[in-house]
Amino acid sequence: MQQRATITEQNRPALPRHVAIIMDGNGRWAAQRGLLRSEGHRAGVDAFERICEHAADLGIAHLTFYAFSAENWARPQGEVDALMALFRRQLSEAKRRRVENEQKRWRIRYIGDLQPGGLLPADILALVDEMQAESSMQDKTVVNLAINYGGQQEILQAVKQLAQACATGERDPASLTEQDIEAQLYTAGQPPPDLIIRPSGEQRLSNFLLWQSAYAEFWFSDILWPDFSTADFDQALADYAKRNRRYGGA
Ligand code: FPP
Repeated sequence: MQQRATITEQNRPALPRHVAIIMDGNGRWAAQRGLLRSEGHRAGVDAFERICEHAADLGIAHLTFYAFSAENWARPQGEVDALMALFRRQLSEAKRRRVENEQKRWRIRYIGDLQPGGLLPADILALVDEMQAESSMQDKTVVNLAINYGGQQEILQAVKQLAQACATGERDPASLTEQDIEAQLYTAGQPPPDLIIRPSGEQRLSNFLLWQSAYAEFWFSDILWPDFSTADFDQALADYAKRNRRYGGA
């Protein structure tokens, strides 16, 4: 059996500043147990809480979790409704745990198309606004939840904003830089992910953080997300610490 890494004060590896996770495999986890897919997602929320808590305790400053893609609306309505119900429940619970969150100094942010009148229900958007505003002064750990998120859509809306600025003469197209695009992304002001984790055996990005992942390290595993443990997370960090990041240099 493979030796598992457990992080202690003594063997703490060089920590990534930003870890992003594609929470995949909930459906298969449920099917293996003869459960509904929605029950897999519920177990996925438990894994989210477990890993979020652990990563924040380790001192990782930015975390991003892919909870619902812009393409996930194509799932059966019952599954979409179950996921929306989970977001509602999570947001309401986070509201109840406000004091605890303040003590932990967690800043909660939502990334994705959160336009009023868009596909996300208005009551969820209101809770999101409240949660973001309430935690906006916190600075220890930023927890980003990607909902109604698509990397291509994110780049497109950034380009549209810059095109608009060029059309009004506010900007000169020749002067545009990568930083101008970054400043229009949902993640503006945050470092790009150093490490992207995808469990469940799939090895693709699925439209997640396309611009931001230019120099990210990837870590894949066959574990289904609801089974993902703090030891698995520590293993990903230990493997990451051994990577030689060259950013295109020699
Ligand atoms: C992908 O697994 C998972 C999703 C599309 C949903 C992820 C959402 C959660 C874990 C809930 C998060 C909620 C909060 C509030 C953090 P899949 O369903 O595609 O699994 P499969 O590939 O095995 O079918």
